[in-house]
Amino acid sequence: MKAIAILALKEAALIEARAAGTAEALEQVRIKYLGRKGLLPDIMKGLKDADVSERPAMGRYANELKQELAALLEKRRAALEKAAAVSAPDSFDATLPGRWRAFGARHPISRIIEDAIRIFDTLGFTVADGPDIETEYYNFDALNTPADHPSRDTQDTFWLESGQLLRTQTSPVQIRVMESRPPPVRIIAPGRCYRRDTTDATHSANFHQIEGLYVGERVSMADLKGDITCFAQRLMGPGVKVRFRPHFFPFTEPSVEYDFSCHVCGGKGCRVCKQSGWIEISGAGMVNPKVFTKVGYDPETVTGYAFGMGVERIAMIRYGIHDIRLLYDNDKRFLEQLAQ
Ligand code: PHE
Repeated sequence: MKAIAILALKEAALIEARAAGTAEALEQVRIKYLGRKGLLPDIMKGLKDADVSERPAMGRYANELKQELAALLEKRRAALEKAAAVSAPDSFDATLPGRWRAFGARHPISRIIEDAIRIFDTLGFTVADGPDIETEYYNFDALNTPADHPSRDTQDTFWLESGQLLRTQTSPVQIRVMESRPPPVRIIAPGRCYRRDTTDATHSANFHQIEGLYVGERVSMADLKGDITCFAQRLMGPGVKVRFRPHFFPFTEPSVEYDFSCHVCGGKGCRVCKQSGWIEISGAGMVNPKVFTKVGYDPETVTGYAFGMGVERIAMIRYGIHDIRLLYDNDKRFLEQLAQ
């Protein structure tokens, strides 16, 4: 017998040990190679008859076979035992408390937008969309706000180097929608707006609006008041009141600003409504005929109303938040209190 034959035998033994999938099979491998009548003791016995030059290597390989195989068998046995323990029925302890998993929740801003989409859907409104990066035309000119118009000053604009701007309002979506389809139109357009406002408890340079536009035959101010009031009560509860104050916007005539009664204090005055009992939501009005002309609608045959809504303002009274910045900090201690 040659040393190389023992090496081959060792390889075969290790392969068999790795393939053995049960404790029984492992034991068979052990008996075959290491057992009293196994292959290894046989080899050891034959050692004295082997060629002298082969003997040291044979002895070494035989030893390796014994040790490596024994170690591998032990390792496999332990692994099989562990696997068996995990799948055994009594390894499941039903009295242990479950593992706690933190659930995410919708952000208050997203929830108001989703609720608004649902409520206006029942009034026949679909959702429209426009880009955050707008042209001067859509954000101002088409909305009857020429370059020297003073109302541009009230909406301090972030201008881009390209000459475009970050939209200061969602009103440009009105224009994009009317350009793209004939009347009647009934859409809302939620989205982000940007103004160079200094951030404080009620202002943020980046905020959200929901634009609304309803154009058709004989749409009136009464429709506007009714629909906004209906929305406010569906969103906040039947007790909420809406008041309209005369105002000016270049793209609506007549124009109003409108307020919701403060949901936090019920109108008595509190920190959220700054003691006034009312929260200003945004502006609205009857679409200016000049805007209709710009988009190719005939102001003689259609009328329409438009409104904006400040989503953060609504969130503040709905959830009793006295500082707008809390809505952007993503402090989990704050958000968890509002999670549903
Ligand atoms: N876009 C106006 C603003 O941001 C609000 C508004 C929308 C007014 C629609 C009238 C009609 O102040």
